[in-house]
Amino acid sequence: MRFGVLTGGGDCPGLNAAIRGVVYRAHVQGHEVLGFLDGWKGVRDDRVRPLLPTDLSDAITRGGTMLGTSRTNPFAKEEDATRVLATLDRHHLDALIAIGGDDTLRAARELHRRNRPVVGVPKTMDNDVGGTDWTFGFDSAATVAVDAVERLRDTAASHSRVIVLEVMGRAAGWVAMATGLGAAADRTLVPEEPYDEAAVMASIRAAVRERGFALVVVSEGIDLGGSKGSTGAQDEFGHELLRERGVGAALAKRIETVTGVETRSAQIGHIQRGGPPTLFDRLLATRLGVKAVDLALAGQFGQVAVLRGEEVRGVPLDDAIRTNKRLDAGWLDLLHTFDAR
Ligand code: F6P
Repeated sequence: MRFGVLTGGGDCPGLNAAIRGVVYRAHVQGHEVLGFLDGWKGVRDDRVRPLLPTDLSDAITRGGTMLGTSRTNPFAKEEDATRVLATLDRHHLDALIAIGGDDTLRAARELHRRNRPVVGVPKTMDNDVGGTDWTFGFDSAATVAVDAVERLRDTAASHSRVIVLEVMGRAAGWVAMATGLGAAADRTLVPEEPYDEAAVMASIRAAVRERGFALVVVSEGIDLGGSKGSTGAQDEFGHELLRERGVGAALAKRIETVTGVETRSAQIGHIQRGGPPTLFDRLLATRLGVKAVDLALAGQFGQVAVLRGEEVRGVPLDDAIRTNKRLDAGWLDLLHTFDAR
């Protein structure tokens, strides 16, 4: 068989491990793999390179994606869709493996509807793809953010300040929750809950009273009320560019005004998305890449390789992207058990 593989959407640690899983699994069984460059854009423009195991021998250790990526929506214009289909036919592909978040997987579903043989692999640091228990990229990103809070702790304690760290995650609070919980923040604000100013200020006052400083983690997706601070900028899939809203800086100003304690903010932005994947992400990405090939070899197209419990299995694309996964009441209860009070 001839496989194609692409990575779409925001990069995250683990993508190279997943590509490596695809290439090794296909090659040991005598199949060949072509890599499309820069996500769906590379399929539309027919930019492709062959992939051999020797190209990927230690790729499991590296962040980013060796294939490049983009937020190109191949079905935004019918002429682009026609070019995508023509490329796949020109290369006589027997299977396309699309590695990406919900936007990439939605495009894969559209391809499946147009009778092309496609299998999905979910990834995103946001951890918000509904059909899988965890996405690779999340553990690595949250681990970087935990490290950032630990560094901020030193300087916040030295200056007796409040410091707010803004993390990514879009409309899902997974990264913020894991960062706040894992780094013992005094208060963590996630988009799944309305902003409760009184509770936030109470936690900050309690932490400052107890040991002179406070640490706050805030998700880029929260709504502070009042001015939304949006620049209106959007990507090709219509998502607002949330980090431009600057909620961390806005929250820091409010905290200083309300509590009178000197406050700073930091936004780690894309630092969260770079660097080597954690072991968890290396293993998950490898397993999903391998499973995607197995699904294709079994003729299970229109499926996504996902993690359910400890098992890696295929589920229909429709099921995988039906909902975006958000923090539920159980996670929120766990998170708030550790608020400063
Ligand atoms: O979806 C992953 C993500 O990192 C989000 O958490 C963030 O809002 C967005 O991508 C940033 O996108 P870009 O890399 O296009 O600025």
